[in-house]
Amino acid sequence: MELPEAFKEKMKNLMGDDYESLLDSYDQPESKGIRTNTLKLSPAELANKLPFKTQGVNWCKEGFYIDHEVRPGKNPRYYAGLYYVQEPTAMAAVEVLDPKPGDWVLDLCAAPGGKSTQIGAKLQGAGVLVANELVNSRAGILSTNIERMGITNAIVTNEFPERLVDSFYESFDRILVDAPCSGEGMFRKDPGALADWSLERVDRCMGKQEKILETAHRLLKPGGVLVYSTCTFSPEENEQMIEAFINKYPYVLETITLPGITEHGRVDWTRNQAEAIAKTLRIMPMTVKGEGHFIARLIKSEGVAEVLEIKQGYAKSRLKKATRIELQDYTDFAKNNLEPDFYQKIEDCLYLLGEHLYAIPAGVDLERIANLKLLRTGLHLGTFKKNRFEPSYALAMALKLSQAKNICDLADEDLAYQYLKGEALNLKVAKGWVLVGYDGYALGFGKASEGLIKNHYPKGLRIRKK
Ligand SMILES: C[S@@+](CC[C@H](N)C(=O)[O-])C[C@H]1O[C@@H](n2cnc3c(N)ncnc32)[C@H](O)[C@@H]1O
Repeated sequence: MELPEAFKEKMKNLMGDDYESLLDSYDQPESKGIRTNTLKLSPAELANKLPFKTQGVNWCKEGFYIDHEVRPGKNPRYYAGLYYVQEPTAMAAVEVLDPKPGDWVLDLCAAPGGKSTQIGAKLQGAGVLVANELVNSRAGILSTNIERMGITNAIVTNEFPERLVDSFYESFDRILVDAPCSGEGMFRKDPGALADWSLERVDRCMGKQEKILETAHRLLKPGGVLVYSTCTFSPEENEQMIEAFINKYPYVLETITLPGITEHGRVDWTRNQAEAIAKTLRIMPMTVKGEGHFIARLIKSEGVAEVLEIKQGYAKSRLKKATRIELQDYTDFAKNNLEPDFYQKIEDCLYLLGEHLYAIPAGVDLERIANLKLLRTGLHLGTFKKNRFEPSYALAMALKLSQAKNICDLADEDLAYQYLKGEALNLKVAKGWVLVGYDGYALGFGKASEGLIKNHYPKGLRIRKK
């Protein structure tokens, strides 16, 4: 691999004798992985179902290495949301964040959603995940990934981080800042990261990281956990960024121990030799099978709260609590098509946004978030059409097949692909809405009549070929 000269020179100066082994690592193939979606099944169940070999990741019990030539996206189980394709060292940051069911968690730089979907699985539907992404097109991908994985308690926002402060000042138990970075750990995986790299880019990323961390501080509850991670090696974006942060803000660094990872942040690469930096993790591709990550875990000390000035005041929310009459077509749909254990649980949190119906996680103050660009507020259940309710893809993915009354569980991979391509299925099932699945897990809705299942898989997600 042709590496930029300025990068080689910098790493050689920093790494001394270890530099050659870093260079050698660039000639090895990238490490590939998948992570089990435990909202749907266990790692052992997944491994048994997959047609390719898997090997466990030491620091993440839901994670597996897969062979380099495997194409994990080419399997209907991927579309059923049974796993997320994720580089193994990228799985470490959420292990360090360690979210628990019931927590309020913010993923501040969230797209495409590897870490958000990992957080969502750990929350097991209890608590709230706010997944924010600045870049609009990437926020859309994040939202789709959250839906595919069947996460019901996420709010997806498309905002500059600082715009979240008026809505969520000191609101979160845990915050992940998986910062935009110069991507030196992505060179094997992503030729774009190599082409975009420059010393100036490192500088630009530092400016962004500093600002994002300052915002994260304002959003975290006192006593809360802040995890900072990057997929780059430059000390300026890692050890030095965290050293400057703890000098300015009231935080204590916690020692991170993860099975299989022994290397820590380099105190000798900081500006002021802060010993606490040795508590961070520096995962490098020469010592661990993976592309590399830097991770710091910080606890916010009790501090003096700011007096917030809400400049614009809060707007009126466009989401409004649905009345029984407004809900009639949905209620009919739910009673005819879903099992009570699913629809009774969400009865008290149904809100309308125009003709769209959402189940919004308890505790979310809709007035407070009304000023934000919201892509998804909780679970989108479906859309009211003239005299009927049409269930959504998100609802299909949040359901177990056992929670739908009329199902068509395909055993044949070709038929599953036929469905995923948007084609109708020549199969006889009871008339009406049918939850189509593959090998026990939902893929989406169809509508059956006279020996044919009409396809309701979203047009934008349909695949072109197997
Ligand atoms: C390392 S990626 C996040 C990867 C994601 N956490 C995952 O696991 O899939 C960093 C993200 O930060 C976003 N970003 C870029 N500039 C930003 C800024 N100034 N503030 C916040 N986020 C930014 C990028 O668009 C990108 O999606």
